[in-house]
Amino acid sequence: MAQSNKLLEIKNLKQYFNEGKVNEVKAIDNISFDIYKGEVMGLVGESGCGKSTTGRTIIRLYDATGGEVLYDGINVHGKKSTKELKQFNRKMQMIFQDPYASLNPRLKIADIIAEGIDIHGLAKSKQERMEMVYELLETVGLNREHANRYPHEFSGGQRQRIGIARALAVQPEFIIADEPISALDVSIQAQVVNLMKKLQKEKELTYLFIAHDLSMVKYISDRIGVMYFGKMVELAPADELYRNPLHPYTQSLLSAIPAPDPISERSRRRKSYDPASHNYDQNEPVGFREVNPGHFVLCSEKEFQQYQAKVK
Ligand SMILES: Nc1ncnc2c1ncn2[C@@H]1O[C@H](COP(=O)(O)OP(=O)(O)OP(=O)(O)O)[C@@H](O)[C@H]1O
Ligand SMILES: [Mg+2]
Repeated sequence: MAQSNKLLEIKNLKQYFNEGKVNEVKAIDNISFDIYKGEVMGLVGESGCGKSTTGRTIIRLYDATGGEVLYDGINVHGKKSTKELKQFNRKMQMIFQDPYASLNPRLKIADIIAEGIDIHGLAKSKQERMEMVYELLETVGLNREHANRYPHEFSGGQRQRIGIARALAVQPEFIIADEPISALDVSIQAQVVNLMKKLQKEKELTYLFIAHDLSMVKYISDRIGVMYFGKMVELAPADELYRNPLHPYTQSLLSAIPAPDPISERSRRRKSYDPASHNYDQNEPVGFREVNPGHFVLCSEKEFQQYQAKVK
């Protein structure tokens, strides 16, 4: 696992919508984490906890309310020349949740995939452009005959493969996949996850992989961050998070995953999470603390000691 170099540093990031108004939403409320070159960082949490906003702020679709995002040491939200902006747009790509809405229905697959190739002038001739499209189609498990068809002629899983090909077309370094599989049939989900994992290894890509629940991210992620209401409550290497979930919210998410064998499934109890259980009125959270190497939890001093005792 290539984990020595930081590709992204997210520092005290805040994203408040309608700031100062009655309908203010603290969609991201002071989160900090790093993403290492060549890793898959999973981001999970229930609907509305701020996962997409985190992805969109990192990729500069939104300006940040506060904090910083550094990409290879450069402030993503800082002023840039048109050339620098173009370079950034090429390095970072996004794959979206809804494979039906994210492809322009009026364009042929070849033109959808080649959009980035055209913008960045990556092909010297029409022929080279088409060769690139064919190769991308094959890379994602489709074939060259698909180039002249339109999005409505494809299934959800195939459309998501087209979305992946489109993202790969500009040879990015970093891909944000925002719930790329949640709109797909369960039987297709594993295929798309496996494809993404294979491409990540082959092309040495770095991913931020966003998902609702912990069942599928486990297979793809090196590390996983858990979000709850705009805050990151726990972050750990994937195995460690499954073995030793410390934050009660993470425990509740894990208890929601069905067990593969019927005996354990019958005894599985869904844990619910009660934020009042922390007693933060009396013991304020002291921050995102490292309980075990690489394992961070949002906690009070008292909880920090309890968590440390647990992992020892
Ligand atoms: N453009 C916006 N204007 C105002 N509020 C927004 C905007 N985008 C998101 N929000 C709010 O910010 C919060 C976080 O939303 P976000 O879409 O990031 O959640 P999410 O974790 O991606 O949820 P889901 O799993 O449903 O996709 C929500 O309360 C949402 O209503
Ligand atoms: Mg979302």
